[in-house]
Amino acid sequence: MTQTVRGVISRTKGQPVEVVDIVIPDPGPGEVVVDIQACGVCHTDLHYREGGINDEFPFLLGHEAAGIVESVGEGVTNVEPGDFVVLNWRAVCGQCRACKRGRPHLCFDTHNAAQKMTLTDGTELTPALGIGAFADKTLVHEGQCTKVDPAADPAAAGLLGCGVMAGLGAAINTGAVNRDDTVAVIGCGGVGDAAIAGARLVGARRIIAVDMDDRKLNWAREFGATHTINAKELDAVETIQDLTDGFGADVVIDAVGRPETWKQAFYSRDLAGTVVLVGVPTPDMTLEMPLIDFFSRGGSLKSSWYGDCLPERDFPTLISLYLQGRFPLDKFVSERIGLDQIEDAFSKMHAGEALRSVVVL
Ligand SMILES: NC(=O)c1ccc[n+]([C@@H]2O[C@H](COP(=O)([O-])OP(=O)(O)OC[C@H]3O[C@@H](n4cnc5c(N)ncnc54)[C@H](O)[C@@H]3O)[C@@H](O)[C@H]2O)c1
Ligand SMILES: [Zn+2]
Ligand SMILES: [Zn+2]
Repeated sequence: MTQTVRGVISRTKGQPVEVVDIVIPDPGPGEVVVDIQACGVCHTDLHYREGGINDEFPFLLGHEAAGIVESVGEGVTNVEPGDFVVLNWRAVCGQCRACKRGRPHLCFDTHNAAQKMTLTDGTELTPALGIGAFADKTLVHEGQCTKVDPAADPAAAGLLGCGVMAGLGAAINTGAVNRDDTVAVIGCGGVGDAAIAGARLVGARRIIAVDMDDRKLNWAREFGATHTINAKELDAVETIQDLTDGFGADVVIDAVGRPETWKQAFYSRDLAGTVVLVGVPTPDMTLEMPLIDFFSRGGSLKSSWYGDCLPERDFPTLISLYLQGRFPLDKFVSERIGLDQIEDAFSKMHAGEALRSVVVL
């Protein structure tokens, strides 16, 4: 058995997305069909549309989602129909070399649904990050469903599924920001602001936000930035140094993902400081730097996939902090839109007019 629902696909590189009918198979062993309630528009969806991730078109876009479990396949034990879940792209396998060494947040073989969703003519779809949630319903692996408190607004809760978790985790998991640290965040979209909110949550002493858009910098302040730098007007590296007694920040997070922003992050950290790259570069980007600079400054240079999160550990906790009023997850929701407004949301993302547009269904 299958069912046909609406979904948003990217058929060809660089072309506008389309709302079409998609076919969802009934869940097989270990699979779950989720009735999507909300799904945020992430920059990574746009990367997919532009061919920046891979060439496996057509993509079923959308991956920051919350919804209700509709049906479960054979052997599914962690969720049941009616459960409120946030979808994740880190269903750890428990078997790979990372999992076996007790590092499941690095799992090299995460699970996705085994069956394919398709177009009505049978063309197989590639779901963005193995999720594909700009759709009325989607098919995922049971491990991709994390049960959280149903009191949470789905539009806010779903954002934990990617960008917010990625940014927050880049600060507190990967960057290990601590009480009394100085932190700089380059790029204040949803991901960067989540890094800022994370740094505030753990008690960073100074949080410097860098962007080229004053509106973004105003939002960054609301999430906890203590200082802001408009990189169009000021030299980001020098200004971060000025704001940290001439030394540089303990942890600098690049939430843009370009060679020039990474270099700014590298040179604006204190000796032995940490750089975390969470923005996603495109395959054509390269870096050329004096090797001696790596050596002589010490410290650590890290990349952060999904904020090194473990959904089962982190999502319920963050939802609880949100419901207690200690983490402003709902502030990331700039607007609520329909499935047919995703191109507008991409334009708003480019124009810096929205932090997160969230599709509500
Ligand atoms: N590593 C992960 O697991 C993960 C997860 C989700 C998203 N991402 C990536 O994180 C990045 C940010 O995502 P987002 O949704 O916040 O995007 P966004 O487009 O909303 O935000 C990017 C921000 O960077 C600013 N910016 C652009 N160029 C800049 C520059 N040279 N200097 C300073 N600021 C600059 C923009 O004004 C904007 O505010 C994207 O590359 C996205 O693909 C990574
Ligand atoms: Zn694994
Ligand atoms: Zn994302």
